[in-house]
Amino acid sequence: MPARILDGKALAEKIHQELRDRIAALQPQIGRPPGLAVLMAGDNPASAAYVRNKERACTKVGIASFGRHFPTETTQEELEDAIAACNQDERIDGILVQLPLPAHLDSVALLNAIAPHKDADGLHPVNLGRLLRGEPGLRSCTPAGVMRMLKEDRIEVAGKQAVVVGRSILVGKPLAMMLLAEDATVTVAHSRSHDLAAITRSADILIPAVGKPGLITAEMVKPGAVVVDVGINRIEDASGKARLVGDVDFQAVKEVASAIAPVPGGVGPMTVAMLLQNTVLSYQIICNS
Ligand SMILES: NC(=O)c1ccc[n+]([C@@H]2O[C@H](COP(=O)([O-])OP(=O)(O)OC[C@H]3O[C@@H](n4cnc5c(N)ncnc54)[C@H](OP(=O)(O)O)[C@@H]3O)[C@@H](O)[C@H]2O)c1
Repeated sequence: MPARILDGKALAEKIHQELRDRIAALQPQIGRPPGLAVLMAGDNPASAAYVRNKERACTKVGIASFGRHFPTETTQEELEDAIAACNQDERIDGILVQLPLPAHLDSVALLNAIAPHKDADGLHPVNLGRLLRGEPGLRSCTPAGVMRMLKEDRIEVAGKQAVVVGRSILVGKPLAMMLLAEDATVTVAHSRSHDLAAITRSADILIPAVGKPGLITAEMVKPGAVVVDVGINRIEDASGKARLVGDVDFQAVKEVASAIAPVPGGVGPMTVAMLLQNTVLSYQIICNS
């Protein structure tokens, strides 16, 4: 039987509606809408598309956008000044620096310059530290989106073997911590892991986050496993048309897995929904403090 599809797009719509309702209830007391500042530098077309997507989603739920787009040759100091201004700006609850940045910029220093309580992407060391310690805090959006998808589908995580492929600070590492916090037994595989197929075949829950189309084949998946594909890859089909695919051979793996998140329409929309959710959470906390 083909796998159940974990529909991230529909779940993201549901979260947007919840956020719209929450904002409508809070705004009369607070006297302003929540605000998100997305800072982008350079002209990477994929980044520009992601930023447009995020700003469109903000408009849909009633979050004000304070985005700024800097030229490729912008300096570290200019971006640090922009972040400092956003940290001070009382209309802004969330700040996000769109990655990747042009090579001459120090992205880690910039992420660290964001006030932790406005860290909409959950990538500041304070928020990552809180995740590690199991304390409340703003959580990284993509891993939080994966966890919400599992929860929504009532997929049992406690006691299960979860395999995350990829160990980036953006996805793999925080996701491993979130799965551990929900009592999964977690394995993190990476480019130096030996016999990836043996590792992935042990997974009840398999989450590839690598960026390599076709990496996960049907033979690498345990029958009945849940597969949440985080990878996003732009490929050209035989006719030269570009399309997005994940890291998983979707057509083959959906015949083996019990549930699968597709690309597009899986984790991608959930990442944006979690970004909006973090912004609204900061709005509530900042305004209540
Ligand atoms: N859906 C979304 O919203 C969303 C959000 C963020 C990212 N993504 C996508 O997720 C993917 C990963 O993103 P990222 O930022 O985490 O990428 P990244 O920083 O490049 O990390 C990739 C990870 O994959 C590992 N890896 C590379 N080749 C491998 C192989 N053959 N076998 C096993 N592991 C391998 C790397 O191992 P080493 O550490 O050993 O190098 C690294 O840990 C990309 O496709 C990205 O576009 C999607």
